Amino acid sequence: MNHKQMVDETRKWVKDQLANEKTGHDWYHIKRVTKQAQEIAEIEGADELIVILAALTHDLIDDKVVESEEQGVKNVDDWLIKIGTTEEQRQHILTIITTMSFKGGTNKPVTTLEAQVVQDADRLDAIGAIGVARTFVYAGSKGDPMYDPTLFVRETLTVDEYRNGRSSAIGHFYEKLLKLKDLMNTKEGKVRALERHQFLEGFLEQFLDEWGHK
Ligand code: ADP
Ligand code: NI
Repeated sequence: MNHKQMVDETRKWVKDQLANEKTGHDWYHIKRVTKQAQEIAEIEGADELIVILAALTHDLIDDKVVESEEQGVKNVDDWLIKIGTTEEQRQHILTIITTMSFKGGTNKPVTTLEAQVVQDADRLDAIGAIGVARTFVYAGSKGDPMYDPTLFVRETLTVDEYRNGRSSAIGHFYEKLLKLKDLMNTKEGKVRALERHQFLEGFLEQFLDEWGHK
């Protein structure tokens, strides 16, 4: 397979698996992230094949999507062998997708340029208007309220607290979304995050104002 065929086949394979996803990891999230990642890769001079394959597969190891991360990694590994990636490419892609998740801010920073690019693209999709919408959809799917003024924002979080503790959609802005701008890795990622970050701040101000907080 040439690079284009590898990408096209992977696109189909991922799309099939995410057809029924409802937690914000749907196919259109992957599509948006892959597009941003490809654009940023071109500007930053990253290896586009690695970036695109990692972006396409990055949510297939999430324990919200598959039974276990281990099973997800094995599925992706088998797939990458099947389409003919080299051992080195495969290791690189698997390292990217296993290290890039936010998990309450507890994961170590990623190291390669390709990992930085894919992580930036994923983070861009968590902020701006799309980020706001995904947050409310996710909170709704967990049964969390849009806002609960009696809940304190949880400053430092373990992975378990981040995943399972009581929170709200608005709480998630403070626990993650507003922090992402300063966590962007690449120059182009930072540029793209700025407008989306400002949108989040404007949205929050309006929301809390309508709520009656001053
Ligand atoms: P993470 O990268 O932190 O593991 P995901 O990427 O799985 O989170 O989250 C999917 C979407 O749901 C993202 O837009 C994310 O910001 C949002 N989200 C994650 N956790 C929460 C939460 N506790 N409340 C509301 N939205 C959340
Ligand atoms: Ni994602």
